[in-house]
Amino acid sequence: MLIMVYLKPIPTMNYRAAFTVCFLIIQLGILVYVTLLFYPNYEKGSRICFKKEDDEAQRLKYRLHGMQKLLKLVYRKAKVVNSREESCDIETAVLFLKKNNVSKTVFKNTFEDFSPLGGRDWSFKTYIPCSNKSLEVNGTSKELIRSQFIPSCVNYDVKLEVRKNLNESLKFPGTCLKQVIDKFCTTQFLVPNILHYIWLGKGKFEFIFFVSIFSGYKKQHPCLIFLYYDTLPSGKWWNLLLLYVSNIIPVSVNPPSKIGNRKIVFLEHKSDILRLQILREYGGIYLDTDQLLLTSLDKFRDRECTMGVASDGYLGSAVIIASKNSAFIKKWMDSYSAYKPNSWGQNSVIMATKLAKQNPNLIHLERHYCSFYPYPTYLFKQNYKWSHSYGLHIYKPGREKQLKQLNFSSIRKLNNTLGAAFRFVLFDDKELCL
Ligand SMILES: *[C@@H]1O[C@H](CO)[C@@H](O)[C@H](O)[C@H]1NC(C)=O
Ligand SMILES: *[C@@H]1O[C@H](CO)[C@@H](O)[C@H](O)[C@H]1NC(C)=O
Ligand SMILES: *[C@@H]1O[C@H](CO)[C@@H](O)[C@H](O)[C@H]1NC(C)=O
Ligand SMILES: *[C@@H]1O[C@H](CO)[C@@H](O)[C@H](O)[C@H]1NC(C)=O
Ligand SMILES: *[C@@H]1O[C@H](CO)[C@@H](O)[C@H](O)[C@H]1NC(C)=O
Ligand SMILES: *[C@@H]1O[C@H](CO)[C@@H](O)[C@H](O)[C@H]1NC(C)=O
Repeated sequence: MLIMVYLKPIPTMNYRAAFTVCFLIIQLGILVYVTLLFYPNYEKGSRICFKKEDDEAQRLKYRLHGMQKLLKLVYRKAKVVNSREESCDIETAVLFLKKNNVSKTVFKNTFEDFSPLGGRDWSFKTYIPCSNKSLEVNGTSKELIRSQFIPSCVNYDVKLEVRKNLNESLKFPGTCLKQVIDKFCTTQFLVPNILHYIWLGKGKFEFIFFVSIFSGYKKQHPCLIFLYYDTLPSGKWWNLLLLYVSNIIPVSVNPPSKIGNRKIVFLEHKSDILRLQILREYGGIYLDTDQLLLTSLDKFRDRECTMGVASDGYLGSAVIIASKNSAFIKKWMDSYSAYKPNSWGQNSVIMATKLAKQNPNLIHLERHYCSFYPYPTYLFKQNYKWSHSYGLHIYKPGREKQLKQLNFSSIRKLNNTLGAAFRFVLFDDKELCL
């Protein structure tokens, strides 16, 4: 208002110009406000201190109301110009507003202790020489297949043997797997540092699966990685994975074909139930084979169960961190007694979401979409700032062709989120390559 009045007498300034100036000032205000609000080094409570309880409630109410309006604007703006670079911050803001009613709650930046990944410059205007960082070898030849140490159980002991045929190794379910874990992966954390991946069907093992599992290996430093398969993967990228990932162990599995007396129709359902069976039995970190890991998940390993909320509001099941016999996983499995063979989602993410609502004390939810599951469009069309993300789920539908073309050379200049994340995993630097 004041600004408008002030601008009026200036003769050359018409309403449109005045409006533009106003708009710019508002924009600047928003920027400063949001920056202050979500500045990473923001000290809890340092900006909000009150003497009386009533005053505190009043002022928070006022502040929240203002923030709500401001952030709505920010959110709309981000949508309009299709610029999602700061979307993680925006999501944080929106989430905070949704979650916190006016109360004594003081804004808590969930990312307080988080050191940002990928550096401070997200302009992608510089190139770096990553020419010598390629891991690629001509990996199709037989001799590149690792002769790896495969554990086997003899009576109550575990033996490591060099084997060529990886398909002659461990089985799930089976007691040997448990002995192997007990022998090599005991830990004081609730959740053992084991990565579980599931590979069902005869699909091609592509570059993105290589990068995803490799990222798990590199960022989580797991004790062991199990890949539960019905058909052992093959091909160049699988061979390369075996070459670089020394502790991956294929585990053969007969995927469940029935739940109770109902037949399982979808492959996805088999994988859904299998991941729960595995986690109940051993605990660990379940990851989809298209889930990139950008940093360690250790901070969740002292909780019984952790999952993330995806951008559609449902829990995502591409990342599940759970202790052995966790109560939440048990409840989820029990819910399969009402299994509906023909509806996807009903049993998996929708059920998990419902159960989490009913049993909030049994599960820790990472509510920021940026934690594990960004909006799918962020991956392909822009540079999403994932400096506060633990991982990215690669959303494939409609992008299969594009994803198939990826390799060490094509990601070097791929100027989008996926390119940057892949370079970060493979070349240790997200910048574009010369
Ligand atoms: C939040 O506020 C709304 C309306 O002001 C109220 O209906 C709701 O119960 C509140 N929720 C909590 C968790 O306090
Ligand atoms: C790549 O470059 C680094 C130094 O920038 C060097 O230490 C390393 O040996 C090089 N690697 C290869 C395979 O040439
Ligand atoms: C890989 O194959 C290409 C041609 O297919 C060849 O030029 C290159 O020298 C090979 N590299 C290695 C390390 O064998
Ligand atoms: C394992 O693979 C080899 C060839 O790689 C094959 O000869 C053998 O029959 C397979 N064994 C099983 C149990 O599938
Ligand atoms: C890469 O994309 C960003 C937008 O996300 C753009 O600002 C930048 O100029 C692009 N870099 C190159 C080298 O094209
Ligand atoms: C990488 O993929 C591109 C297409 O995306 C292709 O032209 C190129 O030949 C591939 N490079 C290798 C080494 O496979």
